[in-house]
Amino acid sequence: MVDLREIAKKALEQMPPEARFSPEDAQVIARHKDLLLSWSEEFVQAFYDTLFAHPPTRAVFREGERPEREETLRGWWRRTVEGPLDETYFAWMAKVGLAHFHRKVENPMMLAMTDFANEFVSTRAASMGFVELTAAFNRLMGSVGVVIVYSYDFFQKLALHNVVGMEPALLGRLSLEEARSLLEKLKEQG
Ligand code: HEM
Repeated sequence: MVDLREIAKKALEQMPPEARFSPEDAQVIARHKDLLLSWSEEFVQAFYDTLFAHPPTRAVFREGERPEREETLRGWWRRTVEGPLDETYFAWMAKVGLAHFHRKVENPMMLAMTDFANEFVSTRAASMGFVELTAAFNRLMGSVGVVIVYSYDFFQKLALHNVVGMEPALLGRLSLEEARSLLEKLKEQG
């Protein structure tokens, strides 16, 4: 069976430590927990107003689904702010990658919204002089985005392996050869 913790770990390990979310960042976020929690409703509404105002992101949702999605996001915000931001949290983010893949939430949509969350916090935190919160939340959103993207990619490949029934290492090698040939063709085109 697929190990979500392992997927999250592999994703985070690829990030240079300076850019990756750290235990010190978790402490900074914990110190500002009440402030962040007080922004919950405003964040959830702004997040979904943004997604519903843009046709490609709006098209992801089923008729009448918004209240359910808002509740999920409220839960995500609470857990993100209250912690613990541990292996279990990042394994959950790996599950989000699969959930998004299955609902055709493309990674550019998701990354735009980790950026949105980041900006939401940083503008407010900066205006209050909480510079360390801005930096900590920035690294957290970067790491959340990395895990979701990595897992999305992982599950997309796994689904392909399962569908075509080809050995993963062989499919990986063939894909690399194909990428090389595509790159050469593009270079020839100038
Ligand atoms: C900051 C970026 C995002 C985060 C952190 C996030 C987080 C989540 C979480 C925690 C879940 C629940 C997964 C579970 O435990 O079952 C979820 C599900 C979902 N998200 Fe996102 N999300 C993000 C961006 C987006 C965007 C941009 C869209 C659409 C354009 C989207 C659409 C959905 C949908 C449709 C589901 C339901 C999946 C299902 O049917 O199982 N999300 N997301």
